[in-house]
Amino acid sequence: MRLAVIPGDGIGPEVVAEGLKVLREVAPDLETTPYDLGAARWQQTGELLPDTVLDELRGHDAILLGAIGDPSVPPGILERGLLLRLRFELDHHVNLRPARLYDGVRSPLAAEGPIDMLCVREGTEGPYVGNGGVLRKDTPQEIATEVSLNTAFGVERVVRYGFERAVTRPRKHLTLIHKTNVLTHAGGLWSRIVEEVSAEFPDVQVAYQHVDAASMFFITDPGRYDVIVTDNLFGDIVTDIAAAVTGGIGLAASGNLDASGTNPSMFEPVHGSAPDIAGQGIADPTATVLSVGLLLDHLGRTEQAKKVNAAVAFDLSTRDPQQQIRTTQVGDRLAALASG
Ligand code: IPM
Ligand code: MN
Repeated sequence: MRLAVIPGDGIGPEVVAEGLKVLREVAPDLETTPYDLGAARWQQTGELLPDTVLDELRGHDAILLGAIGDPSVPPGILERGLLLRLRFELDHHVNLRPARLYDGVRSPLAAEGPIDMLCVREGTEGPYVGNGGVLRKDTPQEIATEVSLNTAFGVERVVRYGFERAVTRPRKHLTLIHKTNVLTHAGGLWSRIVEEVSAEFPDVQVAYQHVDAASMFFITDPGRYDVIVTDNLFGDIVTDIAAAVTGGIGLAASGNLDASGTNPSMFEPVHGSAPDIAGQGIADPTATVLSVGLLLDHLGRTEQAKKVNAAVAFDLSTRDPQQQIRTTQVGDRLAALASG
């Protein structure tokens, strides 16, 4: 397995080291290429993602990314120039974010379990494309637009992915989340495509919810959801809510997938670089380790993925909630559990 590794900023390198520790235990054929991208490189050279690096990344089976972002860099530069550029250039149209409540995890909603949802967030369109602009800048008449781009091609492929996943799950249920009562143009396209694709999946039960109502039910009744399909921005927001109700951002994993398999997919914890705790060795690497599980699953290494996920499930069910997390200790424990 040829894996490109982008540790990135803040706690990124700390959690990635633990992810690799676990991965090495279950996938001995692992070969890694480190890529030094992020705030430091930008500060030193002005480079974000050189084309030559992008080309090299394409030659790998997958990418593991820690976190991108630093308070010393103005907002938007690293996000747009590095993280989103990777997702867009590598056609990561499925942003896969499972949210599951593990035994032993304390959540404000733990009593409401089980929670086991699979959020399928569109990854290359919506308001993220940068389609917009500013007129009459710095005047009281300033006008800013941020146009959401939704193509039939782009919506269809992510909706289809959602159905393909839903049909393999016990509940076979899929919820489209949008705001069709206001965003009638894009909402109309999403609804129509869900209806069309659903005809090919008669076993999958389909529901629709407005994003505001869904945000409430993610908190009050998360157990009702199975597969969620939604656009890039709604998905960004609701997956943070989903993370919060399943034990917090320290446990939330994600995969940025090119489901066609043309480009390498990229796996990363949902959390950011957490500069406030960087360098202290107290970040929870579990979200990265679960992202490694998604990576293995994506590469068809189902048995290896199961070992990683079982290690995490066991660790979480036996953790002492009073004890402060040490990044390397969690990694050591998970590596030992996964190898056993
Ligand atoms: C995420 C992050 C990113 C996003 C930012 C950092 C660009 O919030 O991965 O959810 O909005 O997608
Ligand atoms: Mn986000």
